[in-house]
This record gives sequence, structure tokens and C-alpha cells, in this order.
Amino acid sequence: MPQPVDSARSIVRDAKRIAVLTGAGVSAESGIPTFRSNGGFWQNQRFEDLATPQGFARDPKFVWQWYEERRRNIAETKPNAGHHALVALENRAEQFTLVTQNVDGLHDLAGSKNLIKLHGDIWTLRCTKCNKEKVDRTELADLPPYCDCGGMLRPGVVWFGEMLPEGAIEKASAVVVSADVLIVAGTSAQVYPAAALIPLALRSRAAVIEVNPEETDFSSDVTFGLRGPSATILPQLL
Ligand code: OAD
Repeated sequence: MPQPVDSARSIVRDAKRIAVLTGAGVSAESGIPTFRSNGGFWQNQRFEDLATPQGFARDPKFVWQWYEERRRNIAETKPNAGHHALVALENRAEQFTLVTQNVDGLHDLAGSKNLIKLHGDIWTLRCTKCNKEKVDRTELADLPPYCDCGGMLRPGVVWFGEMLPEGAIEKASAVVVSADVLIVAGTSAQVYPAAALIPLALRSRAAVIEVNPEETDFSSDVTFGLRGPSATILPQLL
């Protein structure tokens, strides 16, 4: 009797257009905490203080200290077998798009090319005055950092209540609507509009494969729910 992972693998093998949506769970085995699972950031800290424009306006130094600590921790990590499996999948697929909510840059580091970053990038700094962006992977000694124009820099990530990068969700939606398969890995699927890509795929022609040790609100609707860590399961889809 075929196991779900075998059936999922044959769907992936036959798919011409593959879309993937990832979340913090795919980086968990690299050593980066998630947001909502055990030990996740939002279990111990208030996202209102750390991940909203209002929190930043109230105390930019406090917010920057948290981001800088995360930057330092992420700098110590490496992509895991799950990130590498997605690169291998991209290399052999006719069409492949990876949509990620992650800001850690591990998909880039692994070698993913066709990547849509819905929530920005923790290595990008953006000026709150002139809007100029720069990539800076160095340790930031003085917090908050400032731009050449004198404006305060902020992390180039999307905070709660903010718009996603221009065109990102539109592009991701178009990819999902035309995909043969959507692989959803390591996301609790609780943050919108990213999570809306899953019902969008379910309403269109795509098979949906969920990779997650835990169930999510969409688990009962997906084509295959593969329960386990992504660094183990994603390589099995190759
Ligand atoms: P969450 O922390 O909400 O969810 C992480 C998911 O990963 C959970 O469903 C876990 O069960 C799953 N998980 C844990 N370990 C895993 C593993 N080894 N392999 C696979 N899955 C695993 O993170 P996201 O869904 O990414 O946004 O959260 C979405 C957004 O909320 C983030 O981008 C961030 C956060 O607030 C902003 O900061 C704007």
C-alpha cells in the first residue's frame, strides 16, 4: 500500500509547475526559533512591542536590540537538508517558485533562485526618511543605526499592520493559481495574506502537500499532510 509520502513524491515528480510556501519551521532545524511553536518568539515576547510600526516608534533601540540579537544568531546558522532539497527541486523543475515568509536569508544561502520574500529580509536595512535600502550583514555596533541622509534605519522586514513588498502577494498568487502542486512547509498558516495562498491553491487545480510535524487549520483540506520535520520530509519528496 503506497504511503502518503510516496504518492506525494509522484505528484511532485510529474508536476511541471511547482510552487512552495515556507515558514519559520523550515529553519527550525538550522537552530532558528519559530514564532508560535514551543519556545517560539511570540510565546515569550509581545509582537506588538517588537514587530509593529507603533512598537518601533515607541522604542526603536529596544526593537533594534532584538533584531540585532536575531541577526547575530542567524549569522551562526546554516541551511539544512530541507533548504537544500528545495534547491534540488528547483534545479530539476520546469517551473519553480519559492514563496517564503522567512526573513533569515537561508533559502538564498542554500542557492534558491526564484524566490519571493513576502516578509522582507533581516539583512536589509531601510531608511525611514529617504526609503533607501542597503544590505548589511555586519554586526551593528550603534543602535539604532542611521542612514547617510541622517534618517533612522529600520529592519527591512514587514511588521504587523504593514503592506507586503509591492507586487509580492500578487506575484505569489499568480504562481499558486497556475501551479500543479503547492508544497506548504513549516508554517502555522496563521498570518495573512501569506496563509491565503493555501485556500487559493485548494480552489484552483493544484495538489497541496503540507509538511509540518503539527496540524494546521488547513490540514484537513490538503491533498497530503506529511507529519514530520521538513529537513527529513522535504528530501523524501525528491
Ligand atoms: P510559526 O511559528 O507561526 O509556525 C511555525 C510552524 O512550523 C508551526 O506550524 C510548527 O508546527 C512548524 N514546525 C516546527 N518545527 C518544524 C520543523 N522542524 N519542520 C517543519 N515544520 C516545523 O511561523 P510562520 O508560520 O512562519 O511574520 O509565521 C508566519 C509569520 O509570523 C512570520 O513570517 C513572522 C511571524 O510573526 C512577521 O514577523 C511579519
